[in-house]
Amino acid sequence: MQTITPFPRGEIAIRDLTKSFALNGGRLNVLSGVNLQVSAGECLAIVGPSGSGKTTLLRVLAGLEDADGGEVLIDGHPVHGTGSDRAVIFQEPRLLPWASVLRNVAFGLEVRGVPQAEAEAKARHYIALVGLTDFAEALPRQLSGGMAQRVGIARALTVQPEILLLDEPFGALDAMTKLAMQEELSRIWAEEKVTMILVTHDLEEAIFLADRVLVLPRPGSGSVRQIDVDLPRPRARSAPAFVEMRRRLMAEFGLH
Ligand SMILES: Nc1ncnc2c1ncn2[C@@H]1O[C@H](COP(=O)(O)OP(=O)(O)OP(=O)(O)O)[C@@H](O)[C@H]1O
Ligand SMILES: [Mg+2]
Repeated sequence: MQTITPFPRGEIAIRDLTKSFALNGGRLNVLSGVNLQVSAGECLAIVGPSGSGKTTLLRVLAGLEDADGGEVLIDGHPVHGTGSDRAVIFQEPRLLPWASVLRNVAFGLEVRGVPQAEAEAKARHYIALVGLTDFAEALPRQLSGGMAQRVGIARALTVQPEILLLDEPFGALDAMTKLAMQEELSRIWAEEKVTMILVTHDLEEAIFLADRVLVLPRPGSGSVRQIDVDLPRPRARSAPAFVEMRRRLMAEFGLH
């Protein structure tokens, strides 16, 4: 197997970020003055109620959406639009239905002009990393939901981004598959040392994977809060410290 060079490392700095949308003849301030520093190789989870701006923040980071004010710096450089330093994984992997797993994963490199043999070698490396070697020739409709999402992860990793942006990546999966995918993502993150921002509704998922949790408030109600997840890895969901962390995070939402 070809040697794959390690990722470059992606540091993120967000300063005074504001974003609003038109609503009922006025403006809805979704993000108002968000400040955030994410170290290279860190895993940050973003949680918050529906409509709190999690996806909006991720889209601004991805360069899919412009902010109204403030700035986003990656490795010290302002973000303008999308770039191959960042890859986004959505809830649904959106695979090309007529193309094999291998073709789907290699596609991102081929459109960037990487020769086919090299693109395929890299694609096979990441297909193996997500445990799908035996399905390289399969079509998307022959895969389960969890397998399709793993193809999406392999496709994102193949372009070797500095930063992986995930928007509820396991939200559509059943409970057991979701747990397995969280284990897998944790292992991949540790191996690839990629900076990861994970939007999730699942507080346990946030605690299992993240170094830090950012809690976004509903627009116009309160400020952004951050909680360090100071737990050793690999993490065990049944460990008392894990359970205590979940209790603290739930208390942030007024839940008990
Ligand atoms: N393109 C858009 N045009 C107008 N309003 C938008 C747009 N995108 C998002 N919004 C509004 O911004 C707010 C935040 O939306 P966003 O999708 O970021 O929330 P979220 O935290 O990801 O929610 P969820 O947990 O439901 O996914 C919502 O009130 C939404 O209606
Ligand atoms: Mg969302």
